[in-house]
Amino acid sequence: MSEKSQKKPSYKGSAISPPNIAFSKYWGKTNHELVLPANDSISMTLGSIYSHTTVEFSPQYDQDLVEIGDQNHSPQPVAGSKKTRVTTHLARFRKLASIELKAKVVSQNNFPLGAGIASSASAFSALTAACIAALGLQVSKKRQSILTRLAGSGSATRSVFGGFVRWQKGRESNQSYAYQLFPADYWALADVVLVISNQEKKFSSLQGHSASAQSSLTNARVRQTKLDNQGLEQALAQKNFAALGKIIEKQMYLLHAVAMTSNPAILYWQPGTVWVLQQVQRLRQQGVQVYATLDAGPNPHLIVEQVNAHRVIEYFKNSQYVQDYFCCPVGRGTRFTSKHLF
Ligand code: DP6
Repeated sequence: MSEKSQKKPSYKGSAISPPNIAFSKYWGKTNHELVLPANDSISMTLGSIYSHTTVEFSPQYDQDLVEIGDQNHSPQPVAGSKKTRVTTHLARFRKLASIELKAKVVSQNNFPLGAGIASSASAFSALTAACIAALGLQVSKKRQSILTRLAGSGSATRSVFGGFVRWQKGRESNQSYAYQLFPADYWALADVVLVISNQEKKFSSLQGHSASAQSSLTNARVRQTKLDNQGLEQALAQKNFAALGKIIEKQMYLLHAVAMTSNPAILYWQPGTVWVLQQVQRLRQQGVQVYATLDAGPNPHLIVEQVNAHRVIEYFKNSQYVQDYFCCPVGRGTRFTSKHLF
């Protein structure tokens, strides 16, 4: 490893990082351990919501401690697989910096967990940056996105950058990283997230990625995604919202078609999901430019030009299916902060 650790007196660092919503989807890997995706994906980084994480490597800890909180709960200790994902990443950084100190991690999200916003993208990009800051590692943004990818949440790779971002799949670890296509202020789009269900999903993305290999539609999806990425870049370059939206929606249906035809078959949709997808078609017939996408869950993300966000929110907010909603503008990527949580 080329990073030099310029050790600070305190091994403490903090970072803030946003989630993102994929316009073209990452669903399936060519290498599970290295988190190499089957295809490139393009996303929009979300503004106003984030994970704020502080990491401290210190002799005062005899084991790694991990606490996570959200909008409604102050940080609480976590155990099991949630903790293991974090401690595995801490071990990676200990090796990089040639230290053996155990660490305490506190992560606070300013949005509710399990509300349809992928907290793992913001959480693992913030954790990675907080470790980099704590250990004084000198890394490029590209290297930061690679280290973030290795945390296991592939989508987190894209959160390192703001605006509109592409994650190139790469054939090996050093070639699989994200980069910015257009900055956050390039185009005033918004993501209106409708919370249909805040139940923990039955199949994690991890299971979904593995199961996708069993779907006979996977190869077709991967082939189509290559073309769709070209289309998305073109639509972004031309600020052609209808062209962009059509691809975004198609990509969502392709992902879910693969999930539904995987082994095991994974159905993330709920009655409210289908209802919203139908209403989105109806709204378009009425002349409102709105397109839907979903990640690995039932909660629709409605992509609109910001000027239309209000109309879309008014339409959906009192529906029997919608428990809550968030409206996120395009946001900045991961940033370091001197504000520590403990
Ligand atoms: C459907 O492996 O990044 O959101 O760790 O649960 O965030 P988590 O999943 P990850 O897969 C994300 C899959 C997706 C599509 C996407 O974001 O590209």
